[in-house]
Amino acid sequence: MNMSARQILVTSALPYANGAIHLGHLVEYIQTDIWVRFQKMRGHACWYVCADDTHGTPIMLRAEKEGISPEQLIARVHGEHSRDFAGFHVQFDNYHSTHTAETRFYAEDIYKKLKAAGLIEVRAIEQFYDPVKQMFLPDRYIKGECPKCGAKDQYGDSCEACGAAYAPTELKNPLSAVSGAKPELKSSDHYFFKLSDPSCQSFLREWTRQGSLQAEASNKLQEWLGAEGENKLTDWDISRDSPYFGFEIPDAPGKYFYVWLDAPIGYMGSFKNLCAKQGLNFDDYWKPDSTAELYHFIGKDILYFHALFWPAELQHAGYRTPTNVFAHGFLTVDGAKMSKSRGTFITAESYLEQGLNPEWLRYYFAAKLNGTMEDLDLNLDDFLSRVNSDLVGKYINIASRAAGFIAKRFGGKLLHAHIADAFATDLPGVMEAAEEIAGYYEARDFARALRRVMALADQVNQYVDKHQPWQLAKSEENAERLHHVCTLLINAFRLLTLYLKPVLPKLAQRAEEFLNIAPLHWADAAHLLPPEHLINPYEHLMTRIEAKQIDALLAANRETLGTNAAPVPEAPSPQRHAQHQQQTEDKMPQTDHISIDDFAKIDLRIARIANAEHVEGAEKLLKLALDLGPLGMRQVFAGIKSAYDPAKLIGRLTVVVANLAPRKMKFGMSEGMVLAASDPEGQISGLYLLSPDSGATPGMQVK
Ligand code: 2FM
Ligand code: ZN
Repeated sequence: MNMSARQILVTSALPYANGAIHLGHLVEYIQTDIWVRFQKMRGHACWYVCADDTHGTPIMLRAEKEGISPEQLIARVHGEHSRDFAGFHVQFDNYHSTHTAETRFYAEDIYKKLKAAGLIEVRAIEQFYDPVKQMFLPDRYIKGECPKCGAKDQYGDSCEACGAAYAPTELKNPLSAVSGAKPELKSSDHYFFKLSDPSCQSFLREWTRQGSLQAEASNKLQEWLGAEGENKLTDWDISRDSPYFGFEIPDAPGKYFYVWLDAPIGYMGSFKNLCAKQGLNFDDYWKPDSTAELYHFIGKDILYFHALFWPAELQHAGYRTPTNVFAHGFLTVDGAKMSKSRGTFITAESYLEQGLNPEWLRYYFAAKLNGTMEDLDLNLDDFLSRVNSDLVGKYINIASRAAGFIAKRFGGKLLHAHIADAFATDLPGVMEAAEEIAGYYEARDFARALRRVMALADQVNQYVDKHQPWQLAKSEENAERLHHVCTLLINAFRLLTLYLKPVLPKLAQRAEEFLNIAPLHWADAAHLLPPEHLINPYEHLMTRIEAKQIDALLAANRETLGTNAAPVPEAPSPQRHAQHQQQTEDKMPQTDHISIDDFAKIDLRIARIANAEHVEGAEKLLKLALDLGPLGMRQVFAGIKSAYDPAKLIGRLTVVVANLAPRKMKFGMSEGMVLAASDPEGQISGLYLLSPDSGATPGMQVK
């Protein structure tokens, strides 16, 4: 470890111990794992801990339904979660549970310290009680008619029909979802953490002012805290009555810590457990003046718990507070919420069982993660084409093009001469990009890191096309030149492997075996392989995704999750199949050029934007009605909402791809594509719609 090594403790949110891990969960674990692996490659002491979130009413009732104890349920789910995470190469340093001695110790410790600081208050509250089941009912276990719109069968906290939020006592004709009994209002003592106390308010104001919070998170927190002098925070109910699966509150028989009280304390519990295994000092990471960094990766829905309750608890119980909280957005699949009936509620287990490569998903998620709270879409057509074209077509291709010649013609050995100067001249930037790429990983802008790596891969492939090793190999007199070109390529492949390693750890490991090198660290980007380095025979490192695999995955998730849909494979989407066919048939060496015939296949036309409007529920899209003159009207959904006010687009001329296959989107058919300029490197932000010079009219062809 180097002298400037940082001590970093990283967590992902603890998944509940009563459900399967699905792709929505994996966004976060993959994001965190990539960041942790990157920090480790940089030589920092970085520890990644997590655990199952095991307490609460749903887990208690689920165990009861299965006829087992909660302990048996959480033990089984712990095994399933550990298996799924390992399957996606999410490498925790410790994966623990909240139902442990360590978490109980810190839950009691924090509670006692908050109590000693005068921040715990006991108050009687009235809540619905199920007289048959003899338990208080959480809001989600009460159903009735919405007090606003009258919709039947709505939960006790909000209406799915009209979106109204209300108290369970406002529901009409409430019933217990557990026993079906009519609930009664009953009073009992509850324990509150006094978040409204001025000391909490002023601490949180200061904590949220730190400059490093994500902009969106900072705005949310300011909104929750209200203006200076305003006291918007209310006390937090941290107790639940028996029967409850959790930790009993010290000196309060029959009262249990609410699951959300001990869940984040599970981070401490898991780390304490790791300390015992690794000989680490817990206090180095958790005492108030700790110089270690503490980061929580979470979904944006649990920001309130992590950025208000949690820092306030830690501060007033005499522990350090988080260095930062990194929130991400939600996952959609093909532009819509994951759906069991469509088969897009995909479990981690089914993905692996169907034989899909976990690193395909890691790459795709990474290519979309930019460190903000924006939602992220797994577009299955794009998934297939991006993984196949970037990883197989660009990156792996470099090794497969050079390795055979090195093995067959040069006994597996690289060139005898030093190639550093030639490498810098012929492949400028490939080595020098290491720190720039590291900066993107550090900022969690993995999308940008991968764009940079793929731009380098393009550059290397252009070098291949320029020097055509397959031509050099035809004549013995070019042997030295062939050896030189292939040696450069193997070195470039090694550097690209290093840059991709946080995202693709298993692939990188196999590439390291092929290259016959020790595990790559970031500092290794500063040098090339030595002369005459011996590499191993090349074995294919990654296969392409086939469209039928994705179709089978959707079918498997429709079947296994017990929906009413018939268990027949869905007809594959024409677009996905077209791409697949094109990719598997495309065995020609890649070049940068297309023929004029290829270009002529694209029917570009001038269109007048007859109407433009927002699309309800779509974050990025505008709905355009396009007038193509003699070709008629077209409806197009364009991802330009961030850049244009629809009212200002009406009447304007632009350019449209008129013969793109129509595409069924969540919001309707899209019958073409408007063209806009953007900077793939993201240096210049924004989207710029194309416009023709004056005189062009709708329907004119663009050639
Ligand atoms: O929202 C959830 O899935 C919770 N189980 C997350 C808990 S995160 C932390 F606080 F433990
Ligand atoms: Zn309603």
